[in-house]
Amino acid sequence: MKILVTGGTGYIGSHTCVELIGSGHEVVILDNLYNSSENVIDRIETITGVRPAFYRTDILDKEGLEKVFQENDFEAVIHFAGYKAVGESVAIPLTYYENNISGSINLYQMMKKYGVRNLVFSSSATVYGDDFEVPFKEEYGLGTTTNPYGTSKKMNEMIITDMDNADPERSSVLLRYFNPIGAHSSGLIGEIPNGIPNNLLPYVAQVASGQREYLRVFGNDYDTPDGTGVRDYVHVVDLARAHVKAIEYAAEHTGTEVINIGTGKGYSVMQILKAYEKACGKELPYKVVDRRPGDIAVCYADTKKAEELLGFKAEYDIDRMCEDSYRFYANLENIDK
Ligand code: NAD
Ligand code: UD1
Repeated sequence: MKILVTGGTGYIGSHTCVELIGSGHEVVILDNLYNSSENVIDRIETITGVRPAFYRTDILDKEGLEKVFQENDFEAVIHFAGYKAVGESVAIPLTYYENNISGSINLYQMMKKYGVRNLVFSSSATVYGDDFEVPFKEEYGLGTTTNPYGTSKKMNEMIITDMDNADPERSSVLLRYFNPIGAHSSGLIGEIPNGIPNNLLPYVAQVASGQREYLRVFGNDYDTPDGTGVRDYVHVVDLARAHVKAIEYAAEHTGTEVINIGTGKGYSVMQILKAYEKACGKELPYKVVDRRPGDIAVCYADTKKAEELLGFKAEYDIDRMCEDSYRFYANLENIDK
């Protein structure tokens, strides 16, 4: 299939492009490089031997977007492009809604105009909010989101479902990611942190590399085995493989499917810290501080639907996730960012 990948030079997008190319698909990347670099295209080429076509285009630029659709005959779109920093979304909500909602609507309008009916969208476990019991099941539906980022994911899910209802030939898979971590085993692509990391893994990686003095553990009084927050960490390469399966599923079916992508297992902050210590071979200092506002105690996926519908099951364990993460961060200084 010829597939447009928006946000394809980003963290999850770049790994997905590698897996798509490896599965014989033709990839066209669109990205405005707000949070990534064009050098990622070289690295995708180094890994796969194939150089994907690249458009430096903003999804808010309707004319630029239309040019991409005019010049290519896409069968499907995988839509990663968007802003993703939860705290920032609270501070500048309109910017987030403009990019994640208006930008997405521009893309969906272009898909309609050019008759492209297959879509995979990057949603998040955040849409479950704190309303349901773990493991989170797709049938629970949408919970109460607590920040504009989460709300923008929820709104996209609703918009896409409405479009699919209006056009019975359309097909969408809404993937609710749990906590993607890790990097490609080549050490060439991964998540390049921008400023002080908000998420656990990039922060731990910076402690391991000496850039940060210690990890702040946000609370050890949760109702969990060791009191620290529990999450479902999934290797980004597994997540990328899930996209290949999802877009192939979309091409063969119609309607809307919501699918969780995680491992179905939860690990605590302390377990992650220990696994990372094993990967980097040194002790990592930490201090327990107050809970982070908005955090929930436990979050992990029910993965049955992914297995049944897509035949997808995550392969990599937590040790491998931390090893691959460490390899990438240790290699960062050699990488032309
Ligand atoms: P990322 O920031 O690495 O990738 C997003 C890419 O989109 C970047 O390359 C950025 O330059 C590009 N982009 C942003 N706005 C754009 C615009 N207006 N036009 C064109 N390109 C634009 O993020 P990621 O971690 O790879 O996440 C990809 C998607 O998955 C996002 O939609 C994110 O919200 C979603 N998601 C991520 C996580 C996570 O933990 N990383 C979890 C759940 C969902
Ligand atoms: C966060 C976002 C969520 C988003 C997800 C993936 C918030 C409130 N939630 O979720 O919307 O979908 O990232 O991008 O920001 N932790 C520490 N110290 C740190 C960082 C994190 O102890 O420096 C803990 C957290 O309290 C949590 C766990 O580590 O228990 C994972 O945190 P994080 O990586 O930020 O992911 P989420 O909280 O799941």
